Amino acid sequence: MGTDWADWHRDYDDPGSPLSRRLALVRSHVEGWLDGRSEPLLQVVSACAGQGRDVLGVLAGRADADRVRACLIEYDPRNAAAAQAAAVGLPGVQVRCADAGVFGSYAGAVPADLVLMVGVFGNVSDADVRATVAALPSLCAAGATVIWTRSRRGPDLTPAIDGWFADAGFVRRAFHAPDGVVFTVGVHEFAGVPQPLPGDGVMFRFR
Ligand SMILES: C[S@@+](CC[C@H](N)C(=O)[O-])C[C@H]1O[C@@H](n2cnc3c(N)ncnc32)[C@H](O)[C@@H]1O
Repeated sequence: MGTDWADWHRDYDDPGSPLSRRLALVRSHVEGWLDGRSEPLLQVVSACAGQGRDVLGVLAGRADADRVRACLIEYDPRNAAAAQAAAVGLPGVQVRCADAGVFGSYAGAVPADLVLMVGVFGNVSDADVRATVAALPSLCAAGATVIWTRSRRGPDLTPAIDGWFADAGFVRRAFHAPDGVVFTVGVHEFAGVPQPLPGDGVMFRFR
C-alpha cells in the first residue's frame, strides 16, 4: 500500500523525530536566506510542499512576510487544504493543488529566488532526480537558492546529487548529513543563467 501523505505529517508532532529535526534545519535555511536578501519582493516556490510547514512556519513568524510571494505546489488535496489553512494571514502565499513534476504547474510562479525540493528526491527515481536538478535553471532566478533533501539510505545518492548541481551551474552552500539519522539537507546557490520555463514536459514522477 502506498504512503498516506496526510498521515506522513504526524511525525512532526514529535519535536525530537528526525523529520522535525530536518524541518528545523530547512527552516533555519529559509530564515537565513530571507535575512540575507534585502529586496522588497521575493518569489518562493515549493515542490511537493505537503502542509507547507517549512515556508509557512518561517513566514508566520516574520514581520517582513509581505516581501515574499510563495507558491506551494502539492498534489494531495488534504495537505493542500491544511497548507491553505495555515496560510491565513499570509496574503502572499498561494497553494496550488497540482502535480509538481510537470513544468506547467510552475507557470507564473517562477523564476523563483528560493526553490524548495524538500521530500522530493527520495520519492522519485534516480534518473528523475538527475532530470529535476538539470531542469532547475528553468525554475530559478539569477542567484536563487535551492534547498533540497534526500535520505542517505544506501546506496547513498547524495554525492551524485551534489555533482549534478555543480553540472547545472550551482555552488554548494551547505550540506548537512548529521550522525544517527539518514536525512540530508543540501543548499545550493544558482550561479548560472536562468532558462525559460518549458511550455510542457515532465521533470519527475512521484512514486
Ligand atoms: C515526503 S512529503 C514532503 C512534504 C513537505 N515538503 C515536507 O517536507 O514537509 C511529499 C509530499 O509530496 C506530495 N506529492 C506526491 N506527489 C506529488 C506530485 N506529483 N506533485 C506535488 N506533490 C506531490 C505528497 O502528497 C506529500 O505531501
